[in-house]
Amino acid sequence: MIETIEQLLLNNRRFVAEQLMQDPAYFDHLAEGQHPQFLWIGCSDSRVSPNLITGTASGDMFVHRNIANLVVQTDMNLLSVLQYAVDVLQVRHVIVCGHYGCGGVKAALDNHEHGLIDNWLRTVKDTRQYFGRELDGLDDEARFRRLVELNVVEQVYNLGKTNVVRQSWRARGQPWIHGWVFDLASGHIHPQTPMIGDDAGLAAICKFHAGVAAP
Ligand code: CO
Repeated sequence: MIETIEQLLLNNRRFVAEQLMQDPAYFDHLAEGQHPQFLWIGCSDSRVSPNLITGTASGDMFVHRNIANLVVQTDMNLLSVLQYAVDVLQVRHVIVCGHYGCGGVKAALDNHEHGLIDNWLRTVKDTRQYFGRELDGLDDEARFRRLVELNVVEQVYNLGKTNVVRQSWRARGQPWIHGWVFDLASGHIHPQTPMIGDDAGLAAICKFHAGVAAP
């Protein structure tokens, strides 16, 4: 485990030397611009490194991360990233990726107070309440895992409701949006939604939700 700031800078020098050894023009190409095909909306958790777990490199993925990988309609930070990725970079895919063992989801499940972050996690608590009928029947561990999954599906739904995505669907028929959960214990990614690229696909998610939600 790396614990000192000096180590980071040493690693950076090694990184530069290794890249240049493999490809002397690597940084020239990197500096030319970016054309990523993917926008990643993930959790800030240090164990869920998007490039590492998907085998992607610098330039492959535009990234936004926050606690519990939330798509909040009033979050100017997320909306700006989304608009730039969809309208300017014209990414073909937007992925919302949650993960089992998510501290944000866990905090939304317990009844303790955590300060400011409780406001941010309000939307996860809403999801917990909305799917109470399904979640109440599960034991603690299963409920935690299921809320991680439901939270991802909710965020995909929120994504499909943004005007950025809706306008791009009409204009270009993209991006495809996806909901994934990363399993820290195995390293595997588990898709939670089919590829969604239009209103019908989004409506199918709603139907799925209607089946398990509280009346
Ligand atoms: Co997390």
